[in-house]
Amino acid sequence: MEKGLNRKLEAVLKGKSFETPPIWLMRQAGRYLPEYRKVRKIAGSFLELCYTPELAIEVTLQPIRRFQFDAAILFSDILVIPDALGRKVEFVENQGPLLEPIDVYGINRLDNSSVVEKLEPVLETVRGLRQQLPEEMSLIGFCGAPWTVATYMIAGKGTPDQGPARLFGMKHPEAMQKLLEVLAEASASYLIAQLQAGAGVVQIFDSWAGVLGDDQFEQWCVKPVKKIVDEIRRVVPDALIIGFPKGAGSRLKKYRAKTGVSGLGLDWTVSFEDACGFQRQGAVQGLLDPMRLVAGGNSLDRAIDDILENLGEGPLIFNLGHGIVPQTPIENVERLVRRVRGD
Ligand code: CP3
Repeated sequence: MEKGLNRKLEAVLKGKSFETPPIWLMRQAGRYLPEYRKVRKIAGSFLELCYTPELAIEVTLQPIRRFQFDAAILFSDILVIPDALGRKVEFVENQGPLLEPIDVYGINRLDNSSVVEKLEPVLETVRGLRQQLPEEMSLIGFCGAPWTVATYMIAGKGTPDQGPARLFGMKHPEAMQKLLEVLAEASASYLIAQLQAGAGVVQIFDSWAGVLGDDQFEQWCVKPVKKIVDEIRRVVPDALIIGFPKGAGSRLKKYRAKTGVSGLGLDWTVSFEDACGFQRQGAVQGLLDPMRLVAGGNSLDRAIDDILENLGEGPLIFNLGHGIVPQTPIENVERLVRRVRGD
């Protein structure tokens, strides 16, 4: 039998529908879990946790043990790519990521020739996970999309609307193009290596796609993601790839058509009417506002039922419209899984 044929998530990405959709949650491993906070403490720094296979495997498996999701997502971060490119990357408690902001000179000196080699500990985590997970459980690998990773590299930190990166791209269009190309090449090799190490699906997170104008969306979001998808499929022709251009709204249809991703991640601002339209072109994932999972109760139940009623007939992956937040009560996650599965 073809490997992974009995995995729901993979089947949905190939266009199949199920009465009970597969479910996993973005950022399902993280600070809302006490067992995560414990391991995080032992690890010392966040990057140390990402680069220690034994610990990264453990935190990847924690939410699976608790909630029996249909997929595990590799524990790592999108900012391991700039780290592997030799940029200074730090995660500061209660502040998020801090990087040394890159300039035109820094961009011209970037060298992506040993990125995959430097990320060997992450690949070891993927191999270990594939060995430990039951055959019917999907393993998702991931990277950040070039634009989103570039926003952190340029500003050196998270910002509300990525003003610094947008401005940089207007002042230095060639350097921006170069940066996105280097990141696309590095990300493609990294995702190919993850697929070869045992990931059955990969997701490209473009968390900041929604701050771009039309022309920039095409140049900075669609073009580099298409380059990654093409490069992956040249080596792994049947690769299953989920694209999540958060905030892309009406551009989502064009995004799937142009990039060639198999599945489309949707945030909670997408209407059911639009989502149904996208679903006619292939699998969709997401839509549930992470705040619903904090609120719980009736508000959560109604939102779950709406998604199932509107999209349950077609290829659907149940998920949030963005990552789970640290204040999420664990019992609400349990409630969500029970309701989606009709238990
Ligand atoms: O989904 C999973 O469980 C897998 C692990 C995962 C993490 N980050 C772990 C993490 C994944 C898929 C990511 C993706 C990621 N990282 C994105 C794209 C998705 C999104 O949320 O928009 C982005 C933009 C990043 C960059 C990043 N990493 C930020 C902005 C922060 C700080 C904000 C925050 O939530 O703390 C991180 C840190 C981070 N990455 C944590 C975790 C569990 C928390 C840090 C800690 O435990 O100390």
